Amino acid sequence: MRRNREYWTRTQPDWIEPGRRAWAKADIDWGIWGVPEAELGALGDLSWYRGKDVVELGCGTGYFSAWMAKVGARPVGIDITPAQLECARGFQREFGIEFPLIEGSAEEVPLPDGSFDAAISEYGASIWCDPHRWVPEAARLLRPGGVLVFMRNTTLSMCCSPDTGPATETLCRDWFGLGRMEWGGDEGVEFHLPTGAMLRLLRSCGFEVEDLIEVQAPEQEPERRWEYMTHDWARRWPCEEIWRARKR
Ligand SMILES: C[S@@+](CC[C@H](N)C(=O)[O-])C[C@H]1O[C@@H](n2cnc3c(N)ncnc32)[C@H](O)[C@@H]1O
Repeated sequence: MRRNREYWTRTQPDWIEPGRRAWAKADIDWGIWGVPEAELGALGDLSWYRGKDVVELGCGTGYFSAWMAKVGARPVGIDITPAQLECARGFQREFGIEFPLIEGSAEEVPLPDGSFDAAISEYGASIWCDPHRWVPEAARLLRPGGVLVFMRNTTLSMCCSPDTGPATETLCRDWFGLGRMEWGGDEGVEFHLPTGAMLRLLRSCGFEVEDLIEVQAPEQEPERRWEYMTHDWARRWPCEEIWRARKR
């Protein structure tokens, strides 16, 4: 948690402009390729979220929560990095969308049991927190029938990712034993539980998995480039996936 807070504090300025562009969007999209929710249907029926309490675990600059507010939900953003929350507060004023932002870890959220109908994470807790801590927390925070939707990198993409540079066409990392990952230097600490282990963890925390969407990059390559992933790779194999699970 400490290392990730330091990492996100140091890199925060890099996220201001992307955050502003995301806040300005009218419609929800997902991940590094910006694939529209309307195409993926990851959240399910958007009208269901109207009036619902939604927690975003690792909200960063807060754009996903803002999108949830635009569909009529009542979002609350949780993040461990004060600089990210400060930036999110600035965007709230700039775009005129207000919702609570709470400093805290998604591994131990300072809110009561059963306070939410939905929990969401787009590269927040879903990769920056230990799944054995944040998934039980999400289950605790949700009411029965509540939904957990999160995006993360696929296990395949992690197995094809060398220590530096973009994903390759060669498996360069073991699937078995994948979990806590450090990319070296002063990068943060990530968690990438393999697919089967994630499925079993969700079920052991009282979730039924409704969908696992493997996201394909769109035909048209977006302007923004990512040093860890090429458009060509993500056209052929899924580098991102979205899970939707319902609390029993
Ligand atoms: C890539 S951002 C994801 C949020 C959002 N989708 C965005 O791109 O702005 C990752 C966020 O996770 C936050 N984070 C890292 N560890 C966390 C933890 N233990 N609890 C809550 N948030 C955490 C970081 O501070 C950062 O703001």
